[in-house]
Amino acid sequence: MKTINLLSPKKVVFGNGCSEQFTKDFISLGYKKVLIITTPPILQLIDNMLTSFKLSGIEYRVLDSIINEPTKEDLNYSIKIAREFKVDSIIGIGGGSALDVAKLVAALHNINQKIEDVFGIGNLSGRNSFLACLPTTAGTGSEVSPNAIILDETDNLKKGVISEYLIPDVAYIDPLLTLSVPANITASTGMDALTHCLEAYTNKFAHPIIDMYALEGIKLISDNLVNAYLNGKDENAREQVALGSLFGGMCLGPVNTAGVHALSYPLGGEYHIAHGLSNALLLPYVMQFNYSSSINKYSNVAKALGSQYMEVSEITAEDGIRIIFNMIEKLDLPTRLSQIDIPKEAIDKMSESAMTVTRLLKNNPREITITDAKNIYMMAY
Ligand SMILES: [Fe+2]
Repeated sequence: MKTINLLSPKKVVFGNGCSEQFTKDFISLGYKKVLIITTPPILQLIDNMLTSFKLSGIEYRVLDSIINEPTKEDLNYSIKIAREFKVDSIIGIGGGSALDVAKLVAALHNINQKIEDVFGIGNLSGRNSFLACLPTTAGTGSEVSPNAIILDETDNLKKGVISEYLIPDVAYIDPLLTLSVPANITASTGMDALTHCLEAYTNKFAHPIIDMYALEGIKLISDNLVNAYLNGKDENAREQVALGSLFGGMCLGPVNTAGVHALSYPLGGEYHIAHGLSNALLLPYVMQFNYSSSINKYSNVAKALGSQYMEVSEITAEDGIRIIFNMIEKLDLPTRLSQIDIPKEAIDKMSESAMTVTRLLKNNPREITITDAKNIYMMAY
């Protein structure tokens, strides 16, 4: 069995209402100047937190300009604010975009490295500010992962920064914060989380420790995501999906994702398709390409998804793909690239872009060549 490094925040808190505990815990740490990176819809959720900070003598700035998938320009602006304000701590509270920016700001605002220096794996030299992350969507798992993704406007590619210094000091996952997430975002972010689990379990570098999180995450999300989508106020469904998303996040550091995410990034970079949406769309097509590489694993995926077939077989593995298509349909997500206004002529360039995501392609259980990438996009068209 190969050696595996498990790194996670010093403290992970999960449970309804734990964002209130966060406020108390944070105040007790003694930080005095905090930058809060979030998005406008979240502001009303953190009213009490801000009031408590003020009463405790904590100075804060709120940066709520990260609305879509963050660019280098968004990040550099946020770093500038952090420097001007001379922060001693950063709180990211929001979806994956807000969290990823918070993580990078915490690392880059007071060291001598620029974002261009740290793209890739292990290039960040450190982090000197306290970093807390509170997700308000159940999807990216960024609150426990060493990854942050930024759109580089110079070449329209989404690029990853992977570093142990990006793992937050603390993560508080409060499922109640997800109750007001709109249905379409619930659907796409939930499918992103499911993809994290599925791509970790079927990964070329899968590991038994992470398999436990991955399979349990697949079960939790497939059992509850449609309910959370249909009734956003279903606290039980929200809680289960949030837990599945946390498990998906735990898969990201030690094992990470594979072909679905690699093929999905060009849709975000060139056409600004949201991360969860592009993953959801491509997931069943990449499964169709991959499943013959391990009938055993894809049969187990199918069983975790709730397949009635029990034996390890091609039929069981294929049933998993059918269940995924079925879920996507129930979640009213697009199933074809043509439905999201991507021109067919774009497939060649998207395939070339996908080939640059070598850090994830290497994890795919079956090798994806540029011809394969074109074929998968064509199948999904
Ligand atoms: Fe993802």
